[in-house]
Amino acid sequence: MILVTGGAGFIGSNFVLDWLAGSDEAVVNVDKLTYAGNLRNLDAVRSHAGHVFVQADIGDTAVISQLLQQHRPRAVLNFAAESHVDRSITGPAAFIETNVLGTFRLLEAVREYWSALPEAERAAFRFLHVSTDEVYGTLSAQDPAFTETKAYEPNSPYSASKAASDHLVRAWHHTYGLPVLTTNCSNNYGPFHFPEKLIPLMIVNALAGKPLPVYGDGMQVRDWLFVKDHCSAIRRVLEAGVTGETYNVGGWNEMPNIEIVRRVCALLDELRPRADGVSYATQLTYVKDRPGHDRRYAIDARKIERELGWKPAETFDTGIRKTVEWYLANGEWLADVQSGGYRDWVSTQYGQAA
Ligand code: NAD
Ligand code: DAU
Repeated sequence: MILVTGGAGFIGSNFVLDWLAGSDEAVVNVDKLTYAGNLRNLDAVRSHAGHVFVQADIGDTAVISQLLQQHRPRAVLNFAAESHVDRSITGPAAFIETNVLGTFRLLEAVREYWSALPEAERAAFRFLHVSTDEVYGTLSAQDPAFTETKAYEPNSPYSASKAASDHLVRAWHHTYGLPVLTTNCSNNYGPFHFPEKLIPLMIVNALAGKPLPVYGDGMQVRDWLFVKDHCSAIRRVLEAGVTGETYNVGGWNEMPNIEIVRRVCALLDELRPRADGVSYATQLTYVKDRPGHDRRYAIDARKIERELGWKPAETFDTGIRKTVEWYLANGEWLADVQSGGYRDWVSTQYGQAA
């Protein structure tokens, strides 16, 4: 049994689906169901005997402790977080609450549970913390890609809150001996990505005939990884990672935002052309830049490749095509997310969502 937090979000739900497809080991999925949590992502495992969903906050120590005692997981994987940089700029409080205090409370509940395990189970236990490359700050065009030894220089409320959580995880290892693993991954894309983030937002706006808002000059660089590859990296780190170590995860896929938007438009032109025959790229609009916008992220993924033998399965070409195809084939999911209808569905299925 493993316990996953944030398993109704974008990456967490992909992880739970992949885990249950490839393993007989059950998953307890603990998610608060914020605006970003969507149980529809988990439709395929709704009646799976190995999936136990619990709506709860990672900061609710009583509930988390009770779940740990009840299910006795061999590992806890922490995906739960406030994840959107723009939201962290307009409302940082929720980021401090969940990413910093929530992680702290989760660590304490896990430490109490882990401390009381029999010796062999204590040694085998793992706390895997899912983090981001944004903690390293920004790069210039000439800088080498982020390695695991790069100093933390977070620039947004989001990245500062994630950096704080990474430091707590590290300290719980050094001080208490909790067997932790941390992964720092670059930008993910793929199915179930909430349409506030760049790629799904561009797809939905393009299809709706709306402007495609590119911040600033559009030359900010991100390093893109298909979400299923992030999930396979996390499984590999859980299986073979050395406790106390951090692992950078990325696909060697740096690309300026403007190019991402153009690639999405080109795929839509091919797969669902506009009725008037004009390219979706004509909807592209440059808008005011994000405050404090980091210029470039790039992941040096050699450590996880060398030490754990992990490599991504998708190139950007194959991954982005799968992604655009997925959104075109899942109009109902998208309409539901956009209308907020998925909140109603959650309350009829699982009781009132927060
Ligand atoms: P997401 O916003 O799609 O999902 C977050 C999930 O966490 C949601 O289901 C939400 O309901 C849940 N959640 C939020 N607060 C909670 C709380 N207090 N208690 C319990 N559940 C709570 O985020 P995502 O993109 O899937 O990111 C997952 C993790 O991966 C985050 O820790 C994020 O920092 C990290 N990460 C994301 C990316 C990316 O590109 N999306 C890249 C690297 C790392
Ligand atoms: O690098 C990993 C991080 O990637 C994760 O830790 C975060 O959780 C995740 O949200 C993501 O952060 P970004 O800020 O990079 O993702 P976002 O999709 O918000 O933006 C990607 C880039 O596109 C960024 O440079 C801002 C730009 N952008 C974004 C939006 C939503 C635009 O130009 N226009 C937009 O409308």
